[in-house]
Amino acid sequence: MSDRFNTIAGWALFAGVIALGAGIVSNKMFHQGRPDPMAFAIEGVDSGGDGAAAGPSLNTLLATADVAAGEKVFAKCIACHTINQGGSNGIGPNLWETVGDAIAVGKAGFAFSDALKKVGGTWTFEALDHWLASPRTFAPGTKMSFAGLSKPEDRANIIAYMNAQGSNLPLPAADAAPEPAAEADADADNAAEETPEAPAEEAAAE
Ligand code: HEC
Repeated sequence: MSDRFNTIAGWALFAGVIALGAGIVSNKMFHQGRPDPMAFAIEGVDSGGDGAAAGPSLNTLLATADVAAGEKVFAKCIACHTINQGGSNGIGPNLWETVGDAIAVGKAGFAFSDALKKVGGTWTFEALDHWLASPRTFAPGTKMSFAGLSKPEDRANIIAYMNAQGSNLPLPAADAAPEPAAEADADADNAAEETPEAPAEEAAAE
């Protein structure tokens, strides 16, 4: 009799343990919170590449470039580059008057990699844009170990800043684009958002 009671009690306890365990396990399996958005990133959508299809063109960005903003972006370069006239070469070459200059010639005998030397040509705005988007893609094997600037605006601003350091080539005119309409729309939206505030302020003043 007591044997059987023990058996039943044992099974009951066992069932309880299983139920508890299953609860914990299912909790772990099904309650992990919101999924990490990065897990669903679609490859190739925005890898910081050229992105020529989207957004304003390089010409347009250069035409409206902000030299002061470009100087700030250049903070990412000063670990390796000077850009003042007669500045010394560091890990990277001095960049005075580099815009429009021949690629991989530099000043004061900087030892460029063969990878960059064999690119040839000059540092046009386009070439710099590609180089700064991804040095590794522009000159595979380059010794400039810098990932690149993924934002087209940052690249345009820094190119305008570099151009102002000795080169002073005329910046291109903006490409004709149907964009002003979109901007006007955005302004109209802002205006609409701002108007409700005015009556509220008046009411408060009274
Ligand atoms: C980690 C160091 C490092 C950083 C950071 C770096 N560079 Fe460089 N840069 C180099 C080296 C090294 C070279 C020479 C590359 C070669 O010979 O392959 C170089 C070459 C260049 C050249 C070619 C110059 C010429 O005369 O042909 C330009 C232009 C340039 N860098 C611009 C930049 C800009 C702009 C930034 C910041 C956004 C930057 N670099 C950040 C190390 C660096």
